[in-house]
Amino acid sequence: MSIEFILNGKAVRSESSASTRLLDVLREEFVLTGSKEGCGEGECGACAVLVDGELINSCLVPIAQLVGAKVQSIEGAAADSSLVRAFARCGATQCGICTPGMMLAAQALLEKNAAPSLADIQWALSGNLCRCTGYGRIYEAVAEAAQEMAG
Ligand code: FES
Ligand code: FES
Repeated sequence: MSIEFILNGKAVRSESSASTRLLDVLREEFVLTGSKEGCGEGECGACAVLVDGELINSCLVPIAQLVGAKVQSIEGAAADSSLVRAFARCGATQCGICTPGMMLAAQALLEKNAAPSLADIQWALSGNLCRCTGYGRIYEAVAEAAQEMAG
């Protein structure tokens, strides 16, 4: 069975079996290894990607549910975005396992809310766990990126 969807702006076809997790399709079939496996149970957000603009944990979604969907992994995000610069400036990344999911959660937030409060940022990133930085620098980075994007 082949499943067609849009991946980072390009039409693609997956030949994986229908029950294969999106995370495995991304990492193994399309060799997009930015999405990480942390818990494998929907708890950590390391595997988070955007599906039709909504943040989802790709370890929980079988590829069969994505027919025609628009999927964005971290590889589809701009390499030199305000978020990337702010994460670097604020020291919001250490081991980097959580960073792709954090950035996509932040992107989803900023696309809906250009001027988020700290509480908005905390809520938007509440499904993404970081074991390295503590959350203060990450929240600061998202707030700085929002300010920069607002010009
Ligand atoms: S690996 Fe998917 S939520 Fe943790
Ligand atoms: S930077 Fe290591 S888990 Fe967040």
